[in-house]
Amino acid sequence: MASLLTLLGAVLCSLMVSSEVVPQADFDLQALAGKWYLIGIATNDLWFLSFKNFVLMGTATITPTADGDLELVYSELSPYDTCYTSYIYANKTEVPGIFTYVTEFWGYAELCMAYAKYDEYYLTHTTNNRGNESFAVNRLYGRDVELSAEVHEKFRQFSLETGILSENIVILPKNGTFISCTNKILTRAVQLI
Ligand SMILES: *[C@@H]1O[C@H](CO)[C@@H](O)[C@H](O)[C@H]1NC(C)=O
Ligand SMILES: *[C@@H]1O[C@H](CO)[C@@H](O)[C@H](O)[C@H]1NC(C)=O
Ligand SMILES: *[C@@H]1O[C@H](CO)[C@@H](O)[C@H](O)[C@H]1NC(C)=O
Repeated sequence: MASLLTLLGAVLCSLMVSSEVVPQADFDLQALAGKWYLIGIATNDLWFLSFKNFVLMGTATITPTADGDLELVYSELSPYDTCYTSYIYANKTEVPGIFTYVTEFWGYAELCMAYAKYDEYYLTHTTNNRGNESFAVNRLYGRDVELSAEVHEKFRQFSLETGILSENIVILPKNGTFISCTNKILTRAVQLI
């Protein structure tokens, strides 16, 4: 059964973009709950890359629902000193560790929880379909703003292996996280997560 799920995961995670990413074995959504920092993002998507230099590190809060779905609230400071929060509700799928959601910015997304060390960091691989385009986005989240050089390197390797160009692997500036996002909150029309 486990190997069937793994196989199914391999199929689902690589449906749109050719890669061999499978979800974390024995994925534990409860263990992922709570606050994280978005540390790194890697994608070849041109739309995202056109403003990658403006993206700052933000905070993400994960709340599992009673049904096993996932609520994600992401807050960041924009370059214009305004806080943005975006909210994503991601549906669980038959494969533990794979979720689906739709946002205006990223289109239809299949989120794969590729690797988690729940008290330290986790790595995601998302395949997105926006209009007629398919592209992958990898993200690195940390419980702390500082992660070890080994973890950064693991993210880099993972991204290269999933087809992201070296120059499109970004570790975000830390200055987006330290200002409380309780003032001036706007809800983004497009969601950047
Ligand atoms: C954050 O830091 C980056 C890199 O040092 C800098 O380019 C950017 O202007 C800073 N942004 C804010 C809002 O402080
Ligand atoms: C999530 O589930 C809801 C309720 O079943 C459904 O209407 C929606 O289309 C689903 N979204 C995705 C992206 O699968
Ligand atoms: C994808 O859609 C865009 C905008 O609708 C269009 O300009 C482009 O030619 C399409 N590309 C392909 C490969 O169909």
